Amino acid sequence: MIHLVPFAAEHFDLVCSWFTNEVEAVQWGGPSVSYPLAAQMLQAMLDEGKTNPPNRLCWMAQEDGESVGHIQLALDWRSGNATLSRVVIAPQMRGQGKGSQMLRLVTEHAFGFEAIERVELNVYAWNSVAIRTYEKLGLKLEGTRRSSASVNGERWDTCIMSVLREEWHQPLTVRRVETPEDVALCFPLMRQLRPHLENEGDFIARWQRQKATGYSLIALWKDEQPVALAGYRIQENLIYGPHLYVDDLVTDADVRGSGAGHRLLDRLKAECGERDLSLLVLDTALSNSLGHKFYYREGLLPRALRFSYDINSDHAPLPA
Ligand SMILES: CC(C)(COP(=O)(O)OP(=O)(O)OC[C@H]1O[C@@H](n2cnc3c(N)ncnc32)[C@H](O)[C@@H]1OP(=O)(O)O)[C@@H](O)C(=O)NCCC(=O)NCCS
Repeated sequence: MIHLVPFAAEHFDLVCSWFTNEVEAVQWGGPSVSYPLAAQMLQAMLDEGKTNPPNRLCWMAQEDGESVGHIQLALDWRSGNATLSRVVIAPQMRGQGKGSQMLRLVTEHAFGFEAIERVELNVYAWNSVAIRTYEKLGLKLEGTRRSSASVNGERWDTCIMSVLREEWHQPLTVRRVETPEDVALCFPLMRQLRPHLENEGDFIARWQRQKATGYSLIALWKDEQPVALAGYRIQENLIYGPHLYVDDLVTDADVRGSGAGHRLLDRLKAECGERDLSLLVLDTALSNSLGHKFYYREGLLPRALRFSYDINSDHAPLPA
């Protein structure tokens, strides 16, 4: 798990080593940053934190004792605005969810200050990885300052994104899906996992049939919209005894990596406890490597291979 430690002079060399040219430096720090990064400039950023209250807070993100990222939060106490800035993950560590975790921690920290009502940031319009990361976190694109930066003879557009306190704290609640109306709301999300579902009517009919044989559906709801779903049943067989079997588990592609799947799995583990079941079991495709990573993280272990035979296939058995 990522945690934050205060940024200090001992981290300067490492952060400087993450940038190899001026474009990367400006992408990170805006037009006021020059390449190569200088200790003096980083010290000036740190010094902004010496006011009372601080105008800027700077952290390193660490995992297992290793520094994996850097982030800053500029604070405008008078207007109640906090600006996420100078966000970077070590180049070899990108694309592993570390940036999302680091940003979540800092945004949570910002809204921990009573005076802060809005968290915002600027990002260059071509930086689609960063924009996607911020959208997943819940920041909304407000607009674009066209041709607002000059870098190496090119002009770049700058996007402005923000999240407000009430949006950040909009509660996520786990609730059972019990009516055909709620099942219909869940259809687009379930279809992300089960693309063969034809339409809402098909899904509702299957839900009704499966429900009659013990299937339940729960969802994580945000603003009356489902953002993650789990379909499951309590069953018993000679292999596992009574256990909870998870048929379906899916998080909306837009909020993956934000802990929604973890919340639902936690709810299912709690249900095992309430019903005195000692095992939660699920199947996942061998090709679903991201899913495997998630399940390992959640403490689930692979214990079997599932074989199946398609009665209608003319597939000849492989030679021994
Ligand atoms: C922007 C940055 C901080 C994101 O951190 P990260 O750890 O790489 O991001 P995450 O692994 O949390 O990924 C978040 C999302 O970004 C997208 N993403 C990440 N790496 C990607 C890649 N190489 N290609 C396409 N999309 C990618 C994915 O959509 C991912 O969401 P997913 O979980 O649904 O797949 C990091 O890439 C970085 O340091 N970039 C260089 C500096 C920079 O641009 N800073 C921002 C200045 S405003």
